[in-house]
Amino acid sequence: MKPYVICHMLGSVDGRIKQDIWGFKDHHKYFEETAEKIPADAWLVGRVTMQEFSSKQEYALPPAQEDLPKTDFVADQPEKSFAVVIDPAGKCFWDTNMVSTEHVIEVLTEKVPANYLEHLRSKNVSYIFGGKEELDLALVLEKLHDLFNIKTVRIDGGGHVNGSFLKAGLIDEFSLVLAPVADGTIGSPTVFEVEEGYGTRQATHFKIKSVDRIYDDFLWIRYEVVKNQQTDW
Ligand SMILES: NC(=O)c1ccc[n+]([C@@H]2O[C@H](COP(=O)([O-])OP(=O)(O)OC[C@H]3O[C@@H](n4cnc5c(N)ncnc54)[C@H](OP(=O)(O)O)[C@@H]3O)[C@@H](O)[C@H]2O)c1
Repeated sequence: MKPYVICHMLGSVDGRIKQDIWGFKDHHKYFEETAEKIPADAWLVGRVTMQEFSSKQEYALPPAQEDLPKTDFVADQPEKSFAVVIDPAGKCFWDTNMVSTEHVIEVLTEKVPANYLEHLRSKNVSYIFGGKEELDLALVLEKLHDLFNIKTVRIDGGGHVNGSFLKAGLIDEFSLVLAPVADGTIGSPTVFEVEEGYGTRQATHFKIKSVDRIYDDFLWIRYEVVKNQQTDW
């Protein structure tokens, strides 16, 4: 069974997500205070976003002691809420198995070396495999449900991870905090980074669940994803 998936993002009016030039004081609060109002058993981010929370140390991993099997590892730990990272090549290093109050789960492909698995086990970080070379995101969600009892996941970005789940048709709701700024930086990630150019893919449609004006000039828009959409143009 798949958990319910809500993607939550803070975006500029032109869809950019990096706040480098937005100039807000307390800039974390716009994302975090709204995120806290979305009950979820786990939040999930891409490798680039998680590197803001994982170890800042350069770990030089020793050669593997043993050839650990490429099977899922559920760490023995008491937490019931989780921080999940899509990290196919094992690029995040950990000093602890927690981000804030959440237990870390690494989502890997089988191309990660055994010494990286030993690093994760040495820190008691859980890990699951989502595919041999490429990730099957539906399988990843199923494993999060079945192994960790995660019933609702909040996907917190960045744009590439959001785009992958959107393309796979796995997002149920989209929660957008629309910041009153135009960013305009060409090449900076946007809310959904799916693929370059126009092919046969159609855009995803949403239906509004609610709209609230917050922090004076921000909008918090909650959308439901339209499944099996029919285009009528
Ligand atoms: N405004 C907001 O609400 C908000 C929220 C979150 C993040 N951000 C910002 O967004 C920026 C990062 O966004 P981003 O789009 O560049 O990166 P991202 O989505 O955080 O991470 C992208 C990486 O995740 C892995 N990945 C994602 N989907 C995958 C898939 N389907 N299969 C395999 N690997 C997959 C890949 O890792 P590898 O490269 O290792 O293969 C990929 O390069 C940061 O500046 C962050 O601060 C903003």
